[in-house]
Amino acid sequence: MSLEGKVAVVTGGASGIGRAISLQLARDGAAISVWDLDKIGAAETVAMITDAGGRAIACIGDAASAAEIAASAARTREELGAITILVNNAGITDFCPFQDITEASLERMLHINLMGPFMCTQAIIPDMLASGWGRIVNISSSSAQTGAPMMAHYSASKGGVIALTKTLAREFASKGITVNNIPPGFVDTPMLRKSPVDVEAQAASPASPMGRAGAPEDIAGACSYLVSDAAGYVTGLTLGVNGGRVMQ
Ligand SMILES: NC(=O)c1ccc[n+]([C@@H]2O[C@H](COP(=O)([O-])OP(=O)(O)OC[C@H]3O[C@@H](n4cnc5c(N)ncnc54)[C@H](O)[C@@H]3O)[C@@H](O)[C@H]2O)c1
Repeated sequence: MSLEGKVAVVTGGASGIGRAISLQLARDGAAISVWDLDKIGAAETVAMITDAGGRAIACIGDAASAAEIAASAARTREELGAITILVNNAGITDFCPFQDITEASLERMLHINLMGPFMCTQAIIPDMLASGWGRIVNISSSSAQTGAPMMAHYSASKGGVIALTKTLAREFASKGITVNNIPPGFVDTPMLRKSPVDVEAQAASPASPMGRAGAPEDIAGACSYLVSDAAGYVTGLTLGVNGGRVMQ
């Protein structure tokens, strides 16, 4: 899948799924701009790409702040060129009983997980419109498909991401821009390991037909397809990558 000459922004590319996507799209030939708050992790991702002969830069900033998004977009254009691939992957999670979720916690969740992808897309879509070609992949969550107790704020934010995906897919379908989302389910990353989920017990339970947690690379493979020319007639899709945990 050749992305030679293309520039991709991956938010949250310093860790887990975002790092695997960054490495995969770099192998596919794209220059990668890693947008993350984590300076050390972002530098590690960039080094992995450049050591393998690829091109990458790190833009350290908040992918849910309009001013910082604008600065990162400007730097990416200046150093790598027009951005025609955007992977909205940065996100946070939290586990809390519904009645204990505070207004501040709800606002933070919606701001980072939903407004972040919204604002990053607004900042970058002019490049795609000017190019007549664009690929947007939003990383949502299987929790938005199935519901997830103790995660009302998180699953609501990710449900918004799925609705945003479908709306943008329709709005920009005639402009050569596709917009799809991948709702991961149970992927072994630092986020999952920090959560109350017992990864080994979940992997062994009947809820996991494949008997294992997903790897970040499982999500990266699906993303590689969605941003490729092979997926040129695919838009508005929710492409579940979950080892059979969710079948729809
Ligand atoms: N791991 C799973 O099982 C799973 C399941 C469903 C959905 N997801 C989603 O996949 C995405 C990646 O998750 P992960 O498991 O790789 O998590 P992770 O915590 O390993 O990585 C998330 C990255 O996003 C960055 N980030 C967070 N907020 C940011 C912000 N405001 N600005 C810039 N960077 C920010 C973090 O610094 C981190 O590098 C998230 O959107 C998450 O909700 C993960």
